[in-house]
Amino acid sequence: MFPASLIAAKRDGKELTEKEIGFLIRGYVRGDIPDYQMAAMAMAIYFRGMSDRETAALTLEMLNSGSCLRWPADGIARVDKHSTGGLGDKTSLILAPLLAECGLQVPMLSGRGLGATGGTLDKLESIPGFRTDLSLEEIQRLTMDIGCVITGASGELAPADRKLYALRDVTATVPSIPLITASIMSKKLAESPSALVLDVKFGSGAFMKTQEDASWLARSLVQAGERMNVRTTALITDMNQPLGRMCGNAVEVLEAIDILKGQGPTDLRELTLALSIELLMSAHVCSGQDAARRMLEQRLDNGTAFERFRMMVAAQGGNPDAILRVHPSMEMEARSSGFISEIRTEDLGMAIIALGGGRTQLGQMIDHSVGLEMLVRVGDKVDAGQPVIRVYGNPDSVTESLIADAFTISDEPGSLDLIVEHIGGL
Ligand code: URA
Repeated sequence: MFPASLIAAKRDGKELTEKEIGFLIRGYVRGDIPDYQMAAMAMAIYFRGMSDRETAALTLEMLNSGSCLRWPADGIARVDKHSTGGLGDKTSLILAPLLAECGLQVPMLSGRGLGATGGTLDKLESIPGFRTDLSLEEIQRLTMDIGCVITGASGELAPADRKLYALRDVTATVPSIPLITASIMSKKLAESPSALVLDVKFGSGAFMKTQEDASWLARSLVQAGERMNVRTTALITDMNQPLGRMCGNAVEVLEAIDILKGQGPTDLRELTLALSIELLMSAHVCSGQDAARRMLEQRLDNGTAFERFRMMVAAQGGNPDAILRVHPSMEMEARSSGFISEIRTEDLGMAIIALGGGRTQLGQMIDHSVGLEMLVRVGDKVDAGQPVIRVYGNPDSVTESLIADAFTISDEPGSLDLIVEHIGGL
């Protein structure tokens, strides 16, 4: 087999066989196939797409490029959630300990923020001492002892994705549904879960800009999970405004703690409950949505989910009693009266980066203390001069304009539904 003839076949719209895909991925990981040929193949896939069968073969090859977590046959379901990322999305911090408190185990592998949306690992690193670089052995041991961990993907899991993702990032081939599917699912399937839930977001603060594209990606992800016999469902959720009130790092951890104590904003609580219900049902812990909701709400409202979060923080080296540092704040006001009809969420994400709370390049240091607090939501009526956002940080004039211009105020009240579609399952 010759890489150039496989690239030509894909360029001309032919379907690759499992054997050919295996040859490409194994050769690429070994270093026999150079970056320039893999980049050409990624571009051919970007333009020609892949069939379901090809996508499944690619996912499997990427999964098999590394180790998988191993669990005893003890009847305990290991589950995880993946979100395609959105501003203010701190559901992972709540969902993992909450489900652990319901008897599931959650070996959650998360990522860092790059671009306008924040990353779970960056948020958790606001907690002094918190380690996000657990080894495979630690992930397995702590998951079984505590019920959950949240850590970065160890280099041993799906190494093909690490290499291919870095290449796609610099060759404009990230936004390809089969490549995204294989990338996300190879990492999640390496956890050897029995069920997965996917939160596929669309809108101004998300990777996918339209509901249609999010739906398409969600179907592809669900299909890849089902083909590997992992019960997989997806929710399509609106990211045309931040989730919850807080966006940043330390401020998001504080808001997640509020939810874990039975308080906090309704949208964040409801989305976390909806995703958790999916997993409780998929893992057959609860047979009905109402029973699942009752079980979850009880553990938020009685403080046991928060206690489990504290256990996870301590087990990962963090100080659960630490007071998180938050930057002094200033408020910005509505420029006119009317209804908040649009919030340009991506611009708020860019403002956080400008404040120092996010990064534009891998490896950049970030300031965990800065962030934004939403004082209004889409549809709210405001009067000129009313505070609409609290800024934790020192914005320069450009950042201040970015934040102010992110709010559109008009005569028409708009409204957004948070969860717009359910995919997979029954
Ligand atoms: N997230 C991933 O892990 N992979 C992609 O390809 C895109 C988003």
